[in-house]
Amino acid sequence: MCQACTIDANVSGAFAEKMLGLLNGGAIALMVSVGHRAGLFDAMADGQAVTSQQLAKNAGRNERYCREWLGAMATGEIVEYDIATKQFRLPPEHAAWLTHDATPNNIAVPFQFLPILAQVEDEIVECFEHGGGVPYERYPRFHQIMAEESDQTVVSSLVESILPVADGVISRLESGIDVLDVGCGRGHAMMELAQRFPKSSFAGYDLSPEAIGYARTRAKELGLNNIRFEQRDLSAFAEPERYDFITGFDVIHDQKSPSGLLSGVQRSLRSGGVFLAQDIFGSSEVGHNIGGPVAPFVYTISCLHCMTVSLAQGGEGLGAAWGKELAVSMMRDAGFTDVKVNTLEHDVMNYFYVCRKA
Ligand SMILES: C[S@@+](CC[C@H](N)C(=O)[O-])C[C@H]1O[C@@H](n2cnc3c(N)ncnc32)[C@H](O)[C@@H]1O
Repeated sequence: MCQACTIDANVSGAFAEKMLGLLNGGAIALMVSVGHRAGLFDAMADGQAVTSQQLAKNAGRNERYCREWLGAMATGEIVEYDIATKQFRLPPEHAAWLTHDATPNNIAVPFQFLPILAQVEDEIVECFEHGGGVPYERYPRFHQIMAEESDQTVVSSLVESILPVADGVISRLESGIDVLDVGCGRGHAMMELAQRFPKSSFAGYDLSPEAIGYARTRAKELGLNNIRFEQRDLSAFAEPERYDFITGFDVIHDQKSPSGLLSGVQRSLRSGGVFLAQDIFGSSEVGHNIGGPVAPFVYTISCLHCMTVSLAQGGEGLGAAWGKELAVSMMRDAGFTDVKVNTLEHDVMNYFYVCRKA
């Protein structure tokens, strides 16, 4: 401890309180993830007050675990508790953010990332000593959660809100064009478009065999014959002038080579082609992000996932907090002279970049 420093007891006390609040918040966050996965919020979605026994019965779960979970939810003020009846109730105002019926506003979905990130803590601490990174395979369920999150933030508003930021794209999709999604994950976004625009052809590329395997199976189940999925490392990718429209959702910053991907995208577009990229909101300067609504979450998920998975591939380790200024300059360096940055009301975590090829 600093010997020469004088301590302001009020500042110190307030900070200790803040830290305790964070400790409780972190603990509740884990239990929100558990409640989402175990179907407990859904079982309380009707707003009826229940005992732990009733919740266990309704959700088909073990009573002892439900009781402890309810204790965390009640003391965390996520559910209400009546000491006289020993009943718990999820208020409708809370259910509106925590249940499957609340989709696409189910805020419990991204809470699932926190336990996934915590699972690699030992390896991340090692990286602080030796550098390097933690590879994708060390994050079980990542692609499943990512797809669940992307269903909410991308797929549910893709045609109505997101595509309109790229003027003219919807009418071109209706007439029939070639479309690629880079880093497509489980491919839900392209499948949505393939169904909505049958005259266009769609492709999705991703490094993950698991995600591509899932996407192929699902596309087959849906009977889609205007879509293909391929497992590819996009670091040095280019298929010159093959596509009219390329998308990249939450994907540039965690690539091995974001600059390689961007220049590949630019070369793969035909003249007049459009690249639409959703990527994380914020500035490249950390000082401008202080006080941002989700800034600590972004830096955390970056350090524990986005940056480290890139470094594990021997990559640039750009990180989720690369920021708008750097993003625009890298898109220009890749050859896009026309870059526009949009924000959308439904998604406070992202920018929507529209890059046009002359
Ligand atoms: C944050 S996820 C986004 C997935 C998807 N676009 C979505 O919104 O659900 C980033 C994706 O980039 C893929 N990826 C990472 N490095 C890659 C590489 N070198 N080549 C191809 N894909 C890569 C990952 O497998 C992952 O699916």
